[in-house]
Amino acid sequence: MKTLIIYTSQTGFTKRYAQWLAEELRGDLLDLKEAKKKREDYFKDYDAICYGGWAMAGSIVKAKWFLGKAANWKDKRLAMFCVGGSPCDNPDIDVILQKALTDEQKKYIKIFYCQGGFNYANMKAPSRIAMKMFVSALKNKKDATEKEKVMAEMMASSYDISDIKYIEPIVSYLGEKEYEKAV
Ligand SMILES: Cc1cc2nc3c(=O)[nH]c(=O)nc-3n(C[C@H](O)[C@H](O)[C@H](O)COP(=O)(O)O)c2cc1C
Repeated sequence: MKTLIIYTSQTGFTKRYAQWLAEELRGDLLDLKEAKKKREDYFKDYDAICYGGWAMAGSIVKAKWFLGKAANWKDKRLAMFCVGGSPCDNPDIDVILQKALTDEQKKYIKIFYCQGGFNYANMKAPSRIAMKMFVSALKNKKDATEKEKVMAEMMASSYDISDIKYIEPIVSYLGEKEYEKAV
């Protein structure tokens, strides 16, 4: 079973999840920038390919490249994971995951969410500015719900709610083919 994990990460959370997955599945790891340079032949021998991107304003960053490729990889086990600053039980997560794939893509790609966090020190200036504006808008919102107030407080500074346990369902899914082959 040959597995490839491709990722895009700005501040490091998605990269760490991708590394955990590659270690656990004894797979290969590629930054999307490197993956884009590879010819189609490079991917041919992989049984499973997984793409991880971080959540930005309700979308998964750079998922488009993977989705374009995945249409020709239907014979492989395919998965995507999204890493965001929201806790898993935030209802917005389901919305992000649902709209990331079309009904057709859902037939051959399984999608997962892993809690990340915020790392302002590693964030590029445009992201930091966007977050500052978002947090201040949320703080000044007159009819903000309790949850929104807590979120605004949380997002005002860096935090880390990531945990290796969130890779478990992805590992089981990507590893399934290995099991099928072994029995
Ligand atoms: C501009 C911007 C928009 C974001 N939008 C979302 C979002 O819609 N939902 C979410 O859960 N997290 C959001 N985040 C948080 C990131 O997804 C989170 O910090 C993630 O862990 C970053 O992953 P990385 O360290 O791999 O770059 C946003 C962050 C930035 C900078």
